Amino acid sequence: MSVDLVVLGLGYVGLPLVEAAVQAGLKVIGYDVNRRVVDGLNSGHSHVDDISNAAVAELLDRGFSATMDEREIQDARVAVICVPTPLSVDGRPELGAVRSAAEAVARNLSPGTLVVLESTTYPGTTQEVIEPILVEGSGLVAGVDFYLAFSPERIDPGNQVYGLANTPKVVGGVTKGATRRAADFYRRFVDTVVPAKSAREAETAKLLENTYRHINIALVNEMARFCHELDIDLWDVINLAKTKPFGFQAFYPGPGVGGHCIPIDPNYLSHRVKSRLGYPFRFVELAQEINATMPTYVARRAQDILNLDSKPLRGSSVLLLGITYKPDISDQRESPAVPLAQALRVQGADVQFHDPNVERWLVTGDLLDRVADLDAAVGRADLVILVQNHRAYDADALAAASKRFFDTKGVTSGLNSFRL
Ligand SMILES: NC(=O)c1ccc[n+]([C@@H]2O[C@H](COP(=O)([O-])OP(=O)(O)OC[C@H]3O[C@@H](n4cnc5c(N)ncnc54)[C@H](O)[C@@H]3O)[C@@H](O)[C@H]2O)c1
Repeated sequence: MSVDLVVLGLGYVGLPLVEAAVQAGLKVIGYDVNRRVVDGLNSGHSHVDDISNAAVAELLDRGFSATMDEREIQDARVAVICVPTPLSVDGRPELGAVRSAAEAVARNLSPGTLVVLESTTYPGTTQEVIEPILVEGSGLVAGVDFYLAFSPERIDPGNQVYGLANTPKVVGGVTKGATRRAADFYRRFVDTVVPAKSAREAETAKLLENTYRHINIALVNEMARFCHELDIDLWDVINLAKTKPFGFQAFYPGPGVGGHCIPIDPNYLSHRVKSRLGYPFRFVELAQEINATMPTYVARRAQDILNLDSKPLRGSSVLLLGITYKPDISDQRESPAVPLAQALRVQGADVQFHDPNVERWLVTGDLLDRVADLDAAVGRADLVILVQNHRAYDADALAAASKRFFDTKGVTSGLNSFRL
């Protein structure tokens, strides 16, 4: 086998993995079903925020190539699956991409290969879904002819401090031998590898991490509402609480949760609990209810602020600043800015947007262009809402230049702004 690693799925997770492995000296290829992604990478173009075009050029120089030809998987000693795990329209886990990637591996599985699933999924997927696909498609025996493990991806797009190499990597094999093989593989480019008891524990650990965030964000989002009513500054409350050096971790309220993980992954866990055990995972359901209603709550607060100027939302110009799901990236997946814009438009507001990382934004079928001149648009708008605090923004200066400024991220001093 002439290739050390094939990465299936070259997105926000797969591409940083390719980069880390290539930098460690591994011979890596990438397999993806999207021609635009494959052709783009092979011609030196990155579609992922954290990887520059120059970095892709360097990967190509060091022998990396992307392919849509699944037969190239045969040459690899290790195959890592990093494909999307979304929800279906009725809110259930949608494993179509995981299954089809596993089928591509199965058709091309060479004896001795290590197969790792990194896509976030419900506990049991590796053993109950992937293993039968690999066994039936290849005729090989798991744990004897090939090794199978789960290793949750912990990539945090935009994070300048923690990347793949310095974030501990959990690995759990379907067999003990697979755990050892997977741990040895990741140690080649990750500082700390943490073996799990089995794949199931590794799968559940990832869901615990994201469910924990989801629930704690819901806790402060619910507090934001009643603290406002009680005239208590929740941002100050959180800053006070976090001076305790143990037993407390700060989470912050906001206009809703977005991205590919927090609003989606807990559903994988609650679906498993419900389908296997028949009862709901109540914490997750409550957190979903609270977080999902934050955009309409923000729209209502916007209405209250305009009311101070005797203006209705209908006909008022509202400028949204930052429409991605987190700061300093261009990823808009599940961003709460969309339901917020919808809620404002339903009330008749004239919604405009600015984001340093997004030129055009699709809201309920309308493609909006970013305002051309930020300062002029801020001065003109009846209300400016800070939805995402990108590095490029000086929030206090923007607030001072606005007629009314609503800060949903708690980053302004509050002198010229209303804070969530
Ligand atoms: N983005 C994050 O911050 C993040 C963090 C941790 C975990 N995850 C998890 O990692 C997984 C991948 O997420 P992502 O953000 O990288 O997705 P992504 O959409 O950025 O990339 C996925 C890639 O997989 C490709 N693909 C789809 N079906 C395929 C198939 N059958 N074979 C080969 N390639 C296929 C797509 O074309 C795309 O290029 C998901 O399970 C996600 O929940 C994501």
